[in-house]
Amino acid sequence: MSSYNFDQVVNRRGTDSAKWGYFPEALPLWVADMDFRSPQPILDALTERVEEGVFGYALELPELKEAIAARLANRYDWQVTPEEIVFLPGLVSGLNAVSRAIGAPGDGILVNTPVYPPFLTAPENQGRELHAAEQRAEEEGGTLRYTIDFDALETAIRPNTRMFILCNPHNPTGRAYIREELERLADMAARHDLIVCSDEIHCELILDDVKHIPLASLGPDVAARTITLIAPSKTFNVPGLGLSAAIVPNAELRKQLEQGMAGIVPHCNLLGMHAALAAYTQCDDWLAELLAYLRANRDYAVDYIARHMPNLRTTVPEATYLLWIDCRGAGLENPQQFFLEEAGVALNDGTAFGQGGEGFVRLNLGCTRATLKEALDKMTAALG
Ligand SMILES: Cc1ncc(COP(=O)(O)O)c(C=O)c1O
Repeated sequence: MSSYNFDQVVNRRGTDSAKWGYFPEALPLWVADMDFRSPQPILDALTERVEEGVFGYALELPELKEAIAARLANRYDWQVTPEEIVFLPGLVSGLNAVSRAIGAPGDGILVNTPVYPPFLTAPENQGRELHAAEQRAEEEGGTLRYTIDFDALETAIRPNTRMFILCNPHNPTGRAYIREELERLADMAARHDLIVCSDEIHCELILDDVKHIPLASLGPDVAARTITLIAPSKTFNVPGLGLSAAIVPNAELRKQLEQGMAGIVPHCNLLGMHAALAAYTQCDDWLAELLAYLRANRDYAVDYIARHMPNLRTTVPEATYLLWIDCRGAGLENPQQFFLEEAGVALNDGTAFGQGGEGFVRLNLGCTRATLKEALDKMTAALG
């Protein structure tokens, strides 16, 4: 029996929502937040803190660092100490701070495309070169599955490459990398003496019977060269509250990161810390039901698209609530614009995700089934 009603419609128009406000005429299935209310313990923690009525500079909550360490130990058998955790206001600022902290201007940063757009802009924002390698997409039973092209990665590494930014689980391909893939990445990083920034923001959104494996949990060598970025924001739908964390077991690397952040990255958000503490300690039953709902949304969308839009091909994301759709078979010049203008459905434009994104769109499954159905019906009608 389910205790939470993810079919409940929350009217987000006119609520300061970027997702619903940016394309006011369209049904928005683009930017990665969900249309669901956050779990009640988060609302209660926020209410309690708001009622105090004073919002001065905050101390970092030690119990939040302890809760994060306990969660990583319980879920992944990854032992982290509270001192190894550095709070950040968001992962995009984390990606930029790390890009700024590692190496020197003119050094290179390696990424695996197509990938979440700030992976492409953070290195350049910080005066680094972007070294990109495309992933391999293979068709499996009519759907697409992505794997890491290790030869392409090795070829993209140059003498000045200092860091690899990994996305695991991967946005937009929905892959949760298996141990063997991660071990090969760790080996590559060691051979080329690369620091790895592992963005694991989607690690709790696992839809299939697969396990998330934090890269740094593979062993002390890889842990010593890895900065892992996590947040409760995607999982518990609190991205507007600005609280994330970097886990940096290597004290020297932690110092470099803190220097990269100094004077630029603001204090962590007081309300975000209270929401994160509630999320990480009191919301696992909500999360289990959320995952069941998202899995059903994914299966519904993959099946619907195969039956009604046969010229499109989708991934079957094993993690994340993001569906990556290949529209090249439909002969559309600009699929994002087509679906926005002809269907009234706002999706993400694949070209923003770098090489391998041309002809693709990304659809956000974090909505009610009714919204998802309405969007898919409109897309089908627009394709005729
Ligand atoms: C892989 C990845 N990293 C980072 C972010 C954004 O993080 P934040 O909102 O904390 O800046 C997202 C949001 O979609 C994401 O998918």
